[in-house]
Amino acid sequence: MKNIAVFASGSGSNAENIITYFAGHSEIRVAMIVSNNPNAGVLERAERLGVPSFVFSRGEFEKGSPVLKKLAEYRVELIVLAGFLNMISKAFLNAYPERIINIHPALLPKYGGKGMYGMHVHKAVIAGKEEKTGITIHHINEVYDDGEVIFQASFPIHAHDTPEIVAKKVHTLEYEHYPRVIEKFLS
Ligand code: GAR
Repeated sequence: MKNIAVFASGSGSNAENIITYFAGHSEIRVAMIVSNNPNAGVLERAERLGVPSFVFSRGEFEKGSPVLKKLAEYRVELIVLAGFLNMISKAFLNAYPERIINIHPALLPKYGGKGMYGMHVHKAVIAGKEEKTGITIHHINEVYDDGEVIFQASFPIHAHDTPEIVAKKVHTLEYEHYPRVIEKFLS
């Protein structure tokens, strides 16, 4: 069995979608949820779905070792970031080379970087009068939203689309593709 850890800081709808997708899978499972936010909605989802979850402080993430110890305990092979807003420190990159992937709610390299998450991204995309947007699944390296792209999918933006409408369409694309890309990556 290949074990995944999903890191999430907020609502965790992608985390739930990934857990559900792999429930009953013969080779891959979500072994644990990791968060930096004790109030994150993802923790309730994990509890409801029977997946163990762990919260670590900013300092613990920075240091790496307390989190990495827990990941080793659960024999985690791949770290999947799904709305995780804490920086990934070098300790993680060293322990999981090419084994940390992220999803970004826009077409990188546009609309990435520090502060570009969730609704901030969709508002910027609308303000930028873009004709299309989408999702990017990519490797993590030491620079925000800069790692090698694994997968992208896009859709057109219509004249009257609001950031909320765009957010909904982005989430739909994320649910459709993220679990499949993870599955392919691990096979
Ligand atoms: C997702 O849309 C994800 O792409 C985005 O946060 C959302 C989390 O939603 N990530 C980023 O913006 C990272 N820069 P969720 O908690 O409902 O899965």
